[in-house]
Amino acid sequence: MTILVTGGAGYIGSHVVKQLLDNNEEVLVLDNLETGHKEAVLGGKLLIGDLRDNEFMINVFRKNEIEGIIHFAANSLVGESMKNPYKYYENNVYGTLCLLKQMVEHNIDKIVFSSTAATYGNPEEIPIKEDNPTNPTNVYGETKLTMERMFKWFNRIHGIDYISLRYFNAAGADKSGMIGERHDPETHLIPNILMAAIKNESIKMFGDDYPTRDGTCIRDYIHVTDLSDAHLLSFDYLRQGKGSNIFNIGSQQGYTVKEVIEAAKVVLDKNIRIDVVSKRAGDPAILIASSEKIKKELEWKPRYSDMRTIISTAWNFMKNHHHRYNNER
Ligand code: UFG
Repeated sequence: MTILVTGGAGYIGSHVVKQLLDNNEEVLVLDNLETGHKEAVLGGKLLIGDLRDNEFMINVFRKNEIEGIIHFAANSLVGESMKNPYKYYENNVYGTLCLLKQMVEHNIDKIVFSSTAATYGNPEEIPIKEDNPTNPTNVYGETKLTMERMFKWFNRIHGIDYISLRYFNAAGADKSGMIGERHDPETHLIPNILMAAIKNESIKMFGDDYPTRDGTCIRDYIHVTDLSDAHLLSFDYLRQGKGSNIFNIGSQQGYTVKEVIEAAKVVLDKNIRIDVVSKRAGDPAILIASSEKIKKELEWKPRYSDMRTIISTAWNFMKNHHHRYNNER
């Protein structure tokens, strides 16, 4: 039996695929390569196609014995989602519905799903707990919350068990340096800092008058390998028949934008200039996860999420792969 990883050529998906292979799991990757990179898939079988392509999906599910699914395939840019909601509903929500249709038809009853801190919107308390109110402030977060709700109903009606993992700020790269974060366009803080260092440009810092200890936004950065661990533990939880659940994953430690830049200067041993520009619309001042629930229920522990390890692994990948940014998938 194989584990189907949708979006397995993407940033987090490719790390989970690597870890599954390291654990001797049989892996089938499905990716349309819209934002993924085929060379990031380090093994298993890669099928290039789209969740919304009915013929393709029928073939995938007929020809493979799928035990369960780890589902990443989605668009994930907050800014883009506020310009093109159709794209987000169509790919994220309708795409997931197409996947659920095949799961029901083939009696597949396990799915681990990548959700997001954006489901909470502006938090009412910090650290954020899983049962806090969910009021997304952007279309991306809204589509992920809609997907979570779809899973809830397919669980009740068809018995599909799901684990929804609400990521905070995924960062860093696999320690091999073979895979890492490569988005085009890149919007995330850490790769942008590293690119600024490579190009000798300044990093644009979005606002410095937030109500935080140094005026810049606080985020909870979680190493992609720690995230991968959580997916594997979640899949095992489903295998053991422990039922559906929703977990936050963060390190429960907040860093300001300035602190992240300072840490990068130390790791790279290089000065990085800062250009303070206007705030980015919709950025909450502070997002920190409570990760108590996942620690307790899955016995998950972050191993790599101190800021220096995050930056040094991201740098290890970036310094060898930056020439591929912006010009090639
Ligand atoms: N930032 C900068 N300069 C940059 C990039 C980011 O100052 O070039 C700042 C942002 O304003 C923010 C912080 O760095 O304060 C982190 O920004 P990221 O874009 O790296 O991450 P976000 O916190 O905006 O996004 C993350 C996830 C999204 C998720 C969102 C939930 O990447 O998928 O949290 O709010 F939707």
